[in-house]
Amino acid sequence: MEKRYGRITGWGAYVPEKVLTNHDLEKMVDTSHDWIVQRTGIHQRHIAGPDETNATMSTEAARRALAKANLDATELDLIIVATTTGDYITPAVSSQVQHMLGATDVPAFVLANGCTGFLYALTTAQQFISGGVYKNILIIGSELLSRYVDWTDRNTCVLFGDAAGAFVMQASNEPCGVYGFDMGSDGSGSENIIAPAMGSAEPVNATTFAEGRQFIRMNGREVFKFATRILGRTSQRSLDQAGMSFNDIDCIVPHQANLRIIQAAAKVMDVPMERFLVKVHKYANTSAASIPVAICDGLESGEISLDDRLLLVSFGSGLTWASAVLQMAPTRQRQVYTNGTKAPVVAELVAA
Ligand code: UT7
Repeated sequence: MEKRYGRITGWGAYVPEKVLTNHDLEKMVDTSHDWIVQRTGIHQRHIAGPDETNATMSTEAARRALAKANLDATELDLIIVATTTGDYITPAVSSQVQHMLGATDVPAFVLANGCTGFLYALTTAQQFISGGVYKNILIIGSELLSRYVDWTDRNTCVLFGDAAGAFVMQASNEPCGVYGFDMGSDGSGSENIIAPAMGSAEPVNATTFAEGRQFIRMNGREVFKFATRILGRTSQRSLDQAGMSFNDIDCIVPHQANLRIIQAAAKVMDVPMERFLVKVHKYANTSAASIPVAICDGLESGEISLDDRLLLVSFGSGLTWASAVLQMAPTRQRQVYTNGTKAPVVAELVAA
């Protein structure tokens, strides 16, 4: 069989209109704009309105991605929604999205893996494409975290935001897509990010509800240490699989959780911060939506282009990690950076 690549033909993001700034949060909990900026790099986050749900946000991002790809929802072969904040425990939000898009009878499932969910979904979609099973796959990363955080807990409520991002991946004969990936999990750290009373282990009752055990709790320092340990390692594994080095990468798109984590990762990777796409100041941590939303923003602002070689890298609850070397579209004209800076040293023109 001819080799089939997963080309990203469509991309779209949806962020709710309402913006909650750090100054707004100062009126809600004992915190300050300066503390939040210094410790996280976050300036604001978007918060879903009362009529919005994970399904409506996912569907809007998906509609934008499908329009870009010029593809009708009925032509989809598969829908994957990466989220841990679906509208209900059951049914899966993926079926609601499938219905709202009018994607009649298209298979759909949720991939619940916290902040690494979108990269797990991307690599899963790639397997269906390269295996020749499906041609058109919709991948969504969507989170409505504002309904899962305790708005009286300053340790967590300042960190998160709501958003959705979507990619359309289509089979192509031209080299592009996921060139290498790495995924991993270490459940021994599972208590470090947990909503204790949201599942079958500890069903919500009056006591757990009063104690707020249905909300996300986090050991921030442990997650921070884990992230700085793992981001460089998983990135190197993806690069090795792709047969590339950091010099072959135009832009690193990390999970947008904390600017200090990104800076620590840059140090470990020995890559200057200019080569990282950073959007955490605008959206805060939107978990599974963070990477696709950052990419959509970067494409719109011109910071990245479709044939850039991107290194996507994430960490999150589980604890889990994932990374992937992705070139969204086939090479047209590539800038190759060999001196580790943003300045192009060699520009090579490759025929499309
Ligand atoms: O997607 C993955 C999800 N999780 C993450 O990415 C989280 C990773 N961890 C982090 O980003 C950081 O650990 C945090 C931003 C959560 C916290 O930063 P930190 O530098 O690790 O602070 P800390 O937890 O060591 O707390 C330092 C102090 C504490 O006060 P004391 O005990 O030193 O008196 C906290 O109580 O800062 C206090 N603090 C705050 N102060 C003002 C914690 N949250 C706040 C706040 N405003 N919002």
